[in-house]
Amino acid sequence: MKAKNCLIFGGSGHIGSNLIRKLTKNNLRVTVVTRNIHQKGLKIKTQANAGFIDIVESTIYDEKKIEKLFSKADYCINLVGILYESKKGNSFKNIHTIFPTLLAKLCKKYNIKHFVHLSALGINNATDSLYAISKLDGEKNILNIFPKTTILRPSVVFSNSDNFSTQFMTLLNRLPIFPLYYSGNTKFMPIHCSDLTSIILNVIQNETKSQIIECVGPEVLSFKEILEILLNLIEKKRFLIPLPLFAANLTAKFFQLFPNPLLTQDQLRLLKYDNITSGKYKTNSEIGLPSKLFFKNEVKKYSYMWKEGGQFSTEKYNEKS
Ligand SMILES: NC(=O)c1ccc[n+]([C@@H]2O[C@H](COP(=O)([O-])OP(=O)(O)OC[C@H]3O[C@@H](n4cnc5c(N)ncnc54)[C@H](OP(=O)(O)O)[C@@H]3O)[C@@H](O)[C@H]2O)c1
Repeated sequence: MKAKNCLIFGGSGHIGSNLIRKLTKNNLRVTVVTRNIHQKGLKIKTQANAGFIDIVESTIYDEKKIEKLFSKADYCINLVGILYESKKGNSFKNIHTIFPTLLAKLCKKYNIKHFVHLSALGINNATDSLYAISKLDGEKNILNIFPKTTILRPSVVFSNSDNFSTQFMTLLNRLPIFPLYYSGNTKFMPIHCSDLTSIILNVIQNETKSQIIECVGPEVLSFKEILEILLNLIEKKRFLIPLPLFAANLTAKFFQLFPNPLLTQDQLRLLKYDNITSGKYKTNSEIGLPSKLFFKNEVKKYSYMWKEGGQFSTEKYNEKS
């Protein structure tokens, strides 16, 4: 049987790389669109066997080039997303609302079998976050235009190549004290990247009918518990100190002056809301795809790199006599 073709936007990222491997191992062909084939081409190319992958360079604003790709696509997957805004048109509205709306229109025009769009958990509640508003507006437009869409709303996604557990382990290594925003009480349901990409594969293979699915891991962890697990895994002791909101705001204001900010004011607003299932939408467990990978067990497999003597540790290895 001829392999079906998935057109993937944002495939060079954390979730995308894992997804390309999973889809192509399951006899699906992929066409991956990237803004920079010179910088990202090698990484994307090595995720799949030759013959199963094409790479196309395009910005998300080149409508003509993007439209051409739809004539050969069976499925479309959108993984493009940003955590903070930057110049040159990279606004939340352009990335999370206008671009997904264009994709939905093209899915309709070319009668694509199924559209999978990655959104985010907790966006209904976070009404003061521009990130959440833009994701929600994107979702609404997509569902109005192309109902054969499945929107996946993951909680925080982790793996050995994330920007979450690895970045926190680096920071915990370097800083003697660590700030707890909102006293560290915000709750998350971290899902392993591989569990999430299995859900995407399943949605594609079964052309799942649910329009919004909340994708979560097997446990609820507070921000403080996550930091404690990481500290325990890298065998470090640090002071975790609740930071008053005005001080947190000041630090976010300062950080967001940098090109890759650790925290922005919008992210700080988002952190106020629990990132857990709402009870209003189906979850991955309810569609028969429970996530089984626990945060501590999985991070343990790569946390050694942040332990004493490890590649990312600030301390040299002291030989025990
Ligand atoms: N990771 C998480 O914890 C998490 C949690 C909830 C929701 N999500 C959502 O899941 C999706 C994928 O997340 P991810 O962690 O894989 O993201 P990622 O690693 O940051 O990758 C996103 C991809 O989007 C493309 N992209 C970024 N900025 C762009 C821009 N200005 N214009 C065009 N393309 C741009 C990039 O592709 P090129 O550089 O190749 O063009 C990049 O590879 C996103 O929509 C995100 O919001 C992620």
